[in-house]
Amino acid sequence: MSLYIGLMSGTSVDAIDAVLARFAPRFELLSQHSVPIEPTLKQRILELADATDYSIDRYGALDTELGDLFATAVNELVTLSGINPTQISAIGSHGQTIRHRPDLGFTLQIGDPSRIAERTRMTTIADFRRRDVAAGGQGAPLVPAFHQWLFHCSSEDRVIVNIGGMANLTSLPSDTQQPVIGFDTGPGNVLLDEWNLCHQGTAYDAEGAWGASGVVDAALLEAALATPFFSAPPPKSTGRELFNRRWLDTLIDQLPQAPSAADVQATLAELTARSIAEAIDLLPLSRPTTFVCGGGAHNAHLIARLRHHLPSSRITSTAELGLHPDWVEAAAFAWLAWRAETRQPGNLAAVTGAEGARILGAIYPA
Ligand SMILES: Nc1ncnc2c1ncn2[C@@H]1O[C@H](COP(=O)(O)OP(=O)(O)O)[C@@H](O)[C@H]1O
Ligand SMILES: [Mg+2]
Repeated sequence: MSLYIGLMSGTSVDAIDAVLARFAPRFELLSQHSVPIEPTLKQRILELADATDYSIDRYGALDTELGDLFATAVNELVTLSGINPTQISAIGSHGQTIRHRPDLGFTLQIGDPSRIAERTRMTTIADFRRRDVAAGGQGAPLVPAFHQWLFHCSSEDRVIVNIGGMANLTSLPSDTQQPVIGFDTGPGNVLLDEWNLCHQGTAYDAEGAWGASGVVDAALLEAALATPFFSAPPPKSTGRELFNRRWLDTLIDQLPQAPSAADVQATLAELTARSIAEAIDLLPLSRPTTFVCGGGAHNAHLIARLRHHLPSSRITSTAELGLHPDWVEAAAFAWLAWRAETRQPGNLAAVTGAEGARILGAIYPA
């Protein structure tokens, strides 16, 4: 009874990632599984997230369907792992973010946890972000607490960078007297994916090859980096509410000359790399090693640009620390389930801006 399942579906809306892990006496990743989100379902999720004409029925139907899909991901993971389900203490489900508005006091992740509990017969813990928001925090990023728990090193300053739909980082000074810092740096893959789908017809720019074929448009990059989010001090978090196609189209419309599609892709990759690099440069660390995780770790062009902008930091992936970059976020939600089950705080108040440490999540018994 000491195993936990983590379920993650991020802003990229590419897949449901599921892991089976244990945290005591030490971390161990036992099994992993990914269930793709079909393009039509992705489209329906994005339409709901973007809706201005709200339908409670449409919301309810997707909440239910995603709850069932999360349960399927868990049941498939359990079968693949060969583990007896009675050994599993709880599932930690992030849910699918439909809206993230900590400025208005709410954040909304859907995928009915009651249905997950019903269809897996496992205790399901969900809705991790809202307690932090209720305590005055951003409700995001939540992964830094897990990064600290797993990746802190007393002999080296480290930065963990998660490049998902959005990108976020965790600063881990070797000196435990120094604070852990964590925040969203801005867009990760989300704009790259959308522009690529529109012009290349594929879900993402594999290895960043198309972006690498273009030339960075200096005016577009400068206009994008002038968005106040980039220079705002932490705590800060962001989402598709800000960095979306409308945001990009507005910037392009204001240029004296429209860049080619490939040049826009190159500029978007540069934006992600520059905004991450500049955030790392400002951290109070000495020659940190940067460990990348999330799907962006597969984007060779993006990583090359990050290396270019961070010549004094060694850049590698979390695989070097024993956890493959594809599974870090799902593992973090398994860890949050473990924290909730054992009544330990899941947030870092200094990161989210909450009034204090809080036990996160609502528990739906088996
Ligand atoms: N081989 C690859 N080349 C380039 N980008 C990739 C590759 N594999 C994954 N990605 C990117 O990673 C994204 C998924 O990252 P992920 O960490 O799952 O984000 P999220 O947490 O938002 O779901 C994809 O949408 C894509 O942009
Ligand atoms: Mg994903």
